[in-house]
Amino acid sequence: MIKIALLGFGTVGRGTYEILTKKSENIKKVIGEEVFVSKILKRNLNFQSEIDKSIFTDNFKEIVEDEEIKLVVEMTGDLKGSYGYIKEALNAGKHVVTANKAVVSEYFEEFLELAEKNKVAFLYEAAVAGSIPIITPLKTQVLINDITRVRGILNGTSNFLLTNMQVRKSEYKTILKEAQELGYAEADPYDDVEGMDALRKLRILSTIAFKTKIRNEDILRRGISSIDLSDIAYLNKKNYKVKLIAEAIINEGKFKAVVEPVILSSDDELYGIDGSVNSVEIFGENYGSLVFVGEGAGSLPTGNAIVSDILDALSGHCYPILIENNLINDNENYAARYYV
Ligand code: HSE
Repeated sequence: MIKIALLGFGTVGRGTYEILTKKSENIKKVIGEEVFVSKILKRNLNFQSEIDKSIFTDNFKEIVEDEEIKLVVEMTGDLKGSYGYIKEALNAGKHVVTANKAVVSEYFEEFLELAEKNKVAFLYEAAVAGSIPIITPLKTQVLINDITRVRGILNGTSNFLLTNMQVRKSEYKTILKEAQELGYAEADPYDDVEGMDALRKLRILSTIAFKTKIRNEDILRRGISSIDLSDIAYLNKKNYKVKLIAEAIINEGKFKAVVEPVILSSDDELYGIDGSVNSVEIFGENYGSLVFVGEGAGSLPTGNAIVSDILDALSGHCYPILIENNLINDNENYAARYYV
């Protein structure tokens, strides 16, 4: 039996637990042993649970000092606490899987180095575009194909907002409340609507795709909060849609990376990506473009990405990422073309 621990038991934690439980037989077949959640870290232990309450703890030490726990899944959504948890778990020789884009984008290289030093896996598929398997194929692609552009809709909440403002003509505040109730929005929805969440995901994707360190502060950002129902109605009449697009491009040793609202016409690959759905397009020398589409947030979609990472970590199916280029930031020459 392989013991693992979950840190956090909110929307994503519950989805992860449900998949691990429902698919335990299949998981056992590929790993060769049962994968068993032996501890769950939770801040408040005063709650109703259908799961054996003795596995819950509010003390991280009980997890990190437990040598039988081989893998820790970090899903706390808390930037400060999660940095310490991930670092301590890697240093204790445990594999780490996380859904936390804020902490990965902030400390990406440090975690990768720590994982390498401790000979364990550090995986974060769920941190970018929810259910879409993009990190794992991208790591393979960059070994055999030069990626020159990455583009996508990387935030489900803002896409849900813009779609519903167009289709239902409802006010921004009403729809944001729904996105929060559905578990799409961040604890602070500012991160969703002002483009911060999409920026963090673009930082992770573009660093892997371009094999160069692109930090959060290297990316230009503009959110959707100033877009109102009249903007959307005007565009709708002309058969256009506005979407929050994250895009990074390489050109002659330089890169540009931007998150901004873009007006799309109906022939654009991303025009039909509505609701909380995300999409990622990668452009490579060997094939032109590849488009990935899927649920960008929510309990089971994100849990699905987490459990895929757990399987990869425990079976050793993990490629490293390469940082071998030193591209120059060319954002100052970026002209915003499509602002609403
Ligand atoms: N708040 C995020 C979103 C959750 O709306 O896309 C998934 O990362």
